[in-house]
Amino acid sequence: MTQLLIGTIVESEYELAKDVVKKAFQNAEHSDGKEHELIGKIRKSLTYNAELEVVAKTESGKILGHAMMSEVSVDSDDENNVVLALAPVSVLPEVQNRGIGKALIEALEYRAYENGYIGVVVLGHAEYYKKLGYKPASEFNIYPPFDVPDENFMFKYVFEHPTKEVKGTVHYPEAFQ
Ligand SMILES: CC(C)(COP(=O)(O)OP(=O)(O)OC[C@H]1O[C@@H](n2cnc3c(N)ncnc32)[C@H](O)[C@@H]1OP(=O)(O)O)[C@@H](O)C(=O)NCCC(=O)NCCS
Repeated sequence: MTQLLIGTIVESEYELAKDVVKKAFQNAEHSDGKEHELIGKIRKSLTYNAELEVVAKTESGKILGHAMMSEVSVDSDDENNVVLALAPVSVLPEVQNRGIGKALIEALEYRAYENGYIGVVVLGHAEYYKKLGYKPASEFNIYPPFDVPDENFMFKYVFEHPTKEVKGTVHYPEAFQ
C-alpha cells in the first residue's frame, strides 16, 4: 500500500468521510446504520474538538478511514471527571485488516494525551480493542450507563503512569442519545 497519512479532518472532507463511515458499517455486526448521524451531532456539540477527529488518506487524498473521540463524564459520589469516548471508528471494507484502524486509534490516543485527557472509553469488539491495550472498564471501577456485556465496555489510560484515577458511571452527552 502507498503511504498512509493520518490528519485532522477538514470540512471539505465531511461528505467523503460520511461515505466511508456508511460503507464501513454496512455489513458490521453491531450497527444501527446511524453512525454518520452520531458524527454530525458530536460536531455540533459545545465540547467538540476537531483535533480529535481524524481521517486516514492515501497520498492522492482518497479517504480510507475515519475515527473520532469526544468528551464524556465519569461520575461517582465524590467527583465528576472528563474522559474521552472513542466512537465511531470506520475503515473501508476493502482495506480492513491492514492496520488502518490501529493507526487512527493510536493517533487519537496521542492527541488525547497531548490535550491532557486522562483516558478513553470504548464500546466495541473485545478482541480488537484488547490488542490496542484496552481492558474491561469494570477492572478500573468504571461502568456503562446501559446494559452491555462486561467485556465490550472498555477503558484505557492514555498515560502510562496516570497521576489520577477515575471511577464511576460514564455519562454520555445528548449527541449519543
Ligand atoms: C473494526 C475496524 C475499525 C478495524 O479496523 P482495521 O483497519 O480493519 O483493523 P486493523 O487492521 O487496525 O486491526 C488489525 C487487527 O485487529 C483484528 N481485527 C480487525 N477487526 C476485528 C474485529 N471486528 N474483531 C476482532 N479483531 C479484529 C485483525 O484481525 C488484526 O489482528 P492482527 O493484528 O492480530 O492481525 C474496521 O474493521 C471497521 O471499520 N469495521 C466496521 C465498523 C466497525 O465495526 N467499527 C468499530 C466499532 S467498535
